[in-house]
Amino acid sequence: MKNQHFLIISCAGQGHINPSLQLAKHLIHSGARVTFITTARGLDAMKSRISLDGLSYASFSDRFDDGDRPAEGKAGDSPMLEMRLAGSRSLGDLITSLLSDGPITCLIYTVLLPWAAEVARRFHIPSVFLSIQSATTFAIYRRFFDSRNGLCSNGDYSQSIESIMLHDQLPPFESHDLPSFLLPDNPHSAVIPTFHEHIQILEDDPNACVLLNSFHALEEHTIDAADDISLIPIGPLLPSAYIEGTKSCTDVDFGCDLFNCSRRDYIQWLDAKSNSSVVYASFGSMVVLNEDQIGEIFQGLLETNRPFLLVIRPNDNAEGTIANKMKGYLDGQEQGLIVPWCSQVEVLNHPAVGCFVTHCGWNSTLESLAMCVPIVACPHFSDQLTNAKMVDEVWKNGIRVRARDGGGLVEREEIRRCVEVVMGDGERGEEIRRNALKWKGLAMEAVKEEGGPSHHNLRVFMDRFK
Ligand code: UDX
Repeated sequence: MKNQHFLIISCAGQGHINPSLQLAKHLIHSGARVTFITTARGLDAMKSRISLDGLSYASFSDRFDDGDRPAEGKAGDSPMLEMRLAGSRSLGDLITSLLSDGPITCLIYTVLLPWAAEVARRFHIPSVFLSIQSATTFAIYRRFFDSRNGLCSNGDYSQSIESIMLHDQLPPFESHDLPSFLLPDNPHSAVIPTFHEHIQILEDDPNACVLLNSFHALEEHTIDAADDISLIPIGPLLPSAYIEGTKSCTDVDFGCDLFNCSRRDYIQWLDAKSNSSVVYASFGSMVVLNEDQIGEIFQGLLETNRPFLLVIRPNDNAEGTIANKMKGYLDGQEQGLIVPWCSQVEVLNHPAVGCFVTHCGWNSTLESLAMCVPIVACPHFSDQLTNAKMVDEVWKNGIRVRARDGGGLVEREEIRRCVEVVMGDGERGEEIRRNALKWKGLAMEAVKEEGGPSHHNLRVFMDRFK
């Protein structure tokens, strides 16, 4: 693979950057060079970024480089359009300058950036989509936008869908199981055309393939059912320090924390707890919980009478006021620790952690599968609803909470009940924990350097460009 040079372009969300950077590392371990590209603001926030021979960083403009925020109340088309215009221009300039240094093997682009494929085409550079979401989520989008018989292929996104079947190995997906962007009343309607465009680009390419942050054993039937667009599972894309039997494990492995949190006291706090006794609750980098919901989660955790580690990001509440109120309530009690951010893979890998209350972002879901931590699924939006359904009904490594009256608020009693199901002595809890162990084994098997199918798939992918 000598002299291969991959570009990876990603939005600046933590859930986008983490798997993209892990892929960069795998490519580099296999002998390639990688230029990792994200927004100028994103790059600026990556203070503790991985430094590795063969890895360089660059940025594209999303038009909001100086911190100008897109106009409020117009969180619609305009920011996406502005990012496309400014992004295409600046990515083109970047590619021109990189080409003066030698050829580019392939541009790998992630979700929300379909225009990057267009730019690559202008330079006759192959491009490949890296899906940072599950094969199931991809298949649902495909079902919607398939130009032959898609449910919304005509661009009419206002139709409401009751239920869809992907294939007979999966239960039907009702509207509350679908990626929320597909629902007609969703507040993020501007991103729907972007997903549509991703599918169109793939359909137009006779050699289309999608690199998936997933593993074959986890989504076997969906991956195998994909016909003209081949899905190539290369995950789980995790820091190699957590992959058993990996020789290339390094200290520079942990990725990049966009929140730049230097706190580490939670590890000592976990060290003092017995095995599988702690409930870890965290809701990723994007979900913004309102004060009522945080309060219910906090009370529910308290009522489990189990130790808990709760992440409340500063942007979940005005200047940390809710977090401070709760800390005051705990008043030095040992039961709970509240932090603004943590190194999640380290926490999930800690023997003290026995349950993960999560929003089911795809990275959190995969990390928890790979680290054998059973899930209480509290999905909010996007693919989280689909992931929660798979956890509850298909992989059976967790349970999905029910909101009051089918509405938004999940009450304390429901949080307490679900944690008890997962951690308690009942049959369901035992089944969940058995499955968690099974999935961890299969995830580790997938990424083994010797004979792991995901590892093998990535090598075959790189060979295409020899
Ligand atoms: C977003 C979307 O919300 C999600 O639905 C989609 O699948 C991916 O993009 P995000 O909400 O950030 O992602 O969730 P997730 O996919 O779980 O990614 C969060 C990442 O941040 C994980 O890799 C997790 O390990 C890390 N994290 C989170 C921490 O390191 N510390 C924390 O305290 C919380």
